Amino acid sequence: MPFTVAIDGPAASGKGTIGRAVAARFGFAHLDTGLLYRAVGMRALDDGQGVVDPDWSAELARRLTPADLERDDLRSARAGQAASKVAALPAVREALLGFQRRFARGEPGAVLDGRDIGTVICPEAEAKLFVTASPEARAARRQRELGAASLEEVLADLRARDARDAGRSVAPLRAAPDALLLDTTDLSIDAAVAEAVAYVENRIRRGRA
Ligand code: CDP
Repeated sequence: MPFTVAIDGPAASGKGTIGRAVAARFGFAHLDTGLLYRAVGMRALDDGQGVVDPDWSAELARRLTPADLERDDLRSARAGQAASKVAALPAVREALLGFQRRFARGEPGAVLDGRDIGTVICPEAEAKLFVTASPEARAARRQRELGAASLEEVLADLRARDARDAGRSVAPLRAAPDALLLDTTDLSIDAAVAEAVAYVENRIRRGRA
């Protein structure tokens, strides 16, 4: 039986770093599901000359190819905002569901990080983590990653995206009731990864018992 690790949380909470480290530690595949929405969002912006068309976005999601995930502008703040717009469209989420579920059941296991992995994509995941941090800590991290000039702008961007992600009617950002909550505000990367690894190890051992 494959083992699935679901990691959810708001922007720049550390879920990607933790996801990659957990996957490497256990030899599992890793999928950053945010990239799927970022890729659809950027193509929708390109095709709509800056305006996201809902029907066309769903068509783009259905046609998404691995090459679309290779664009080098997917990590930008613009891509993040475009992603959270297309991510609020039920038809876009529906189009990306099957791929994510198949990925989650790959042998010997898979780690997926996003917003709705433990609640919608893999409610049966063997291990679930919900990673948070204060908005200020998250903005400071994202500012360093992007080399962005203004902390205020980054903070405003994160708050807008958090509000859209948590407020949408389809698959809103929230912790699954059975997820381990990990607040990384005052944790180093190593300490956060160590907690996540210990939790997953525990869940694997329990599954074998
Ligand atoms: O890296 P960061 O946390 O800033 O964002 P991301 O994980 O790449 O996600 C970008 C956007 O995609 C989010 O703001 C969500 O609107 C959307 N998303 C989603 O709705 N569901 C997911 N499973 C992953 C991302």
